[in-house]
Amino acid sequence: MSISQAAALGIAIVALLSTVAIFALAWRREKGSATVGTLDKVARTARVRRPAFVSSATADEEQVVDEAGVAEEPPGPPPAPKVIELTEAEFGETRRQFLNRATGVSFGAFLAFFGITSLAFLWPRLSGGFGGKIDAGTVSDIKDAIFQPDGSIEPFYVAEAKTYVVPFDESLIGETDFDGLDVVVEGLTGLWQKCVHLGCRVPWCSSSQGFECPCHGSKYNAAGEYDSGPAPRNLDRFALEVVDGRLIINTGSVRDTPRATVKTVPYPQGVNCL
Ligand code: FES
Repeated sequence: MSISQAAALGIAIVALLSTVAIFALAWRREKGSATVGTLDKVARTARVRRPAFVSSATADEEQVVDEAGVAEEPPGPPPAPKVIELTEAEFGETRRQFLNRATGVSFGAFLAFFGITSLAFLWPRLSGGFGGKIDAGTVSDIKDAIFQPDGSIEPFYVAEAKTYVVPFDESLIGETDFDGLDVVVEGLTGLWQKCVHLGCRVPWCSSSQGFECPCHGSKYNAAGEYDSGPAPRNLDRFALEVVDGRLIINTGSVRDTPRATVKTVPYPQGVNCL
C-alpha cells in the first residue's frame, strides 16, 4: 500500500471512529441527563389551553328538575389546565440542548459519510485494480510477446497496470540505481506509462526503440532510463514478483530513481518519432 493510500485509509478510519465516539457521547449524555426530558415535558405542559366553549347560560336557565320536583345542580365548567411557570433560563437551556444535539448529529453524519465514501474509494485498490497487485500473465508468454524475430523489442503493455513490461539486462544492474530495488525479476522490469515530467502518457517509438513523450519531448531508452528533455529522472517503475511463473505487478509500490548515468540499453537505435 502506498503512502497516499495509507494516509487516506487512516483518515477514513479516524472519521469513522470519531463518528462512533460522537454518537456514544451523545447517547451517554442523553441517558445521564434527566433534566432534558423533564424540561421538554414541562415546556409542553406550559402551553395554556383555553376551554373550547364557555357557556353563557346562567345557572337558573340550565336548572334541571327531577321526577320528585327537586332541582338538580347543573354541571360546572371543566377544570382549567394546570399552568406551570418556566423561567427564561429554563427555556434558554432547552433551546441550547436542542441546538447542541442538532450540531452533533449533523457533524457525526458528515464524518460518517466522509468515512464511508473514503472506504468505498479505497476498496477496489485494496482488493485489486490499479493501486494493487495485478497479474500480468506468465513470464514465458510475456517474453514471447516482447522479443521480435528481427532482434528488436515491443513492450508488453498491461493496460490495467498502466505499465510497459520491458527487458532489463540483469548483468548490468550493479552499475545502476536499480541495484537493491525490487523492480527487476527474470530479466523484466515494469515501467509506469506516466511521464515523470508532467504526467503525460509516454508512447513507445518502435523505430528508435525508446519512449518519447509528445508533450515536452522527454526521451527514455527501452529500459526507461532518462536520455534527454525536461524529465527530472528515469521513468518510474513498479515492484515486481513472480508467483507460480506469473509476473505480478504491484502498482501500489512505485520506485523512482534519478537520471541514469549508466545506460543499460543504447538509444536511439533508429529514427526518432519526435
Ligand atoms: S510531460 Fe513528458 S516531457 Fe513533459
